[in-house]
Amino acid sequence: MDHNSRLRVGVIGVGVQGEQHLKCFRADGRVELAAACDRNADLLAQRQAQYEIAETFADYQEMYERADLDAVSIVLPDFLHREPTAAAFAAGLHVLLEKPMATSVEDAEAMLAAQRAAGKRFMINLSNRWMAPYPHAKASIERGELGEVRYVYARLSNTLHVPTSMLSWAGGSKLPHWLMVHRLDLARWLLGQEPVRVRALQQEGVLKGMGIDTPDLYQATVEFEGGAIGTFEHCWILPESLPYVVDSKFQLIGTKGCLNVDPLQTSYHHATTERYTTPGILFNDCLGIPSGHVRCALEHFATCCMEGREPLVTGEDGLALTRALCAVVDSAERGGEIIEIPGS
Ligand SMILES: NC(=O)c1ccc[n+]([C@@H]2O[C@H](COP(=O)([O-])OP(=O)(O)OC[C@H]3O[C@@H](n4cnc5c(N)ncnc54)[C@H](O)[C@@H]3O)[C@@H](O)[C@H]2O)c1
Repeated sequence: MDHNSRLRVGVIGVGVQGEQHLKCFRADGRVELAAACDRNADLLAQRQAQYEIAETFADYQEMYERADLDAVSIVLPDFLHREPTAAAFAAGLHVLLEKPMATSVEDAEAMLAAQRAAGKRFMINLSNRWMAPYPHAKASIERGELGEVRYVYARLSNTLHVPTSMLSWAGGSKLPHWLMVHRLDLARWLLGQEPVRVRALQQEGVLKGMGIDTPDLYQATVEFEGGAIGTFEHCWILPESLPYVVDSKFQLIGTKGCLNVDPLQTSYHHATTERYTTPGILFNDCLGIPSGHVRCALEHFATCCMEGREPLVTGEDGLALTRALCAVVDSAERGGEIIEIPGS
């Protein structure tokens, strides 16, 4: 492909997930990794050398002004998404924004307004839609094999490793925004129905006792507009002795059938004299090539930018999710009060 026709992308935030963006964009021959930005200068220099990034910046506004970009991906902590996203649209760039779109409805609305004014592509990286079982589930539902889907059960949790070691800012987010967002998005997408009402409960104490100001776990009951109901469970205090970091179960029950997705049933079991683990291998590098759902999602974003197509996950999806997830947080903070989710 002609070098000049490549999509020039900048990545803002080169931490744990930002590194995945660097890897995947670098592996996409249609994309030029033109710039990256992070306030951590040492990490940025390390990533620049490893992923051959043309230019680096400590400040995203300066990057927007100087790097001649077509698009940015924003991979900053959950509560820092609004300003760089709105500024990117004002600078005429397409935006890939990591989930969750926002931790407040006001932020999500402001970002969507900025995108509509700019007319640029906006995708929220709810990359779990590209995990193989879920598109298969969608096709099965569309073929009518499950009848009418009436129930969703979703569990997505982490061991203590995530809020205590992986993230330095876990106290700035909450499990509905960090984890439930993935499963509620899948439920909306698979059912083709928006959530209308929630009742949620939370437990706290373990993380707060460690100085991390966020609840330990949430349980939410969600009603959807077509009458389906869902149970969502999310926990951040599973013991690190478990052989995995992510605990996930997903079930749909319909009037004619049911469907189970159990990513823990891995075929890869690894035991040494020290530990027994079942690491997720389906979305890691394979012989140096990034593979799996994150790569598929990022390639989809690049395709949408290059071909003028609407992404599979839009800013409208992000706003609908933010409204529902903020209602989950509110309900849990009010001891399980039933909350109607405001419509658009
Ligand atoms: N789609 C997924 O499955 C998935 C997985 C993990 C994380 N995420 C999301 O990705 C985002 C980032 O998470 P992470 O785990 O990579 O966090 P992280 O803490 O590892 O990385 C964040 C980076 O942002 C940098 N940063 C912070 N403020 C900055 C600023 N003002 N300007 C420039 N750089 C700044 C930090 O130095 C850090 O390198 C979050 O929104 C998270 O929810 C998504």
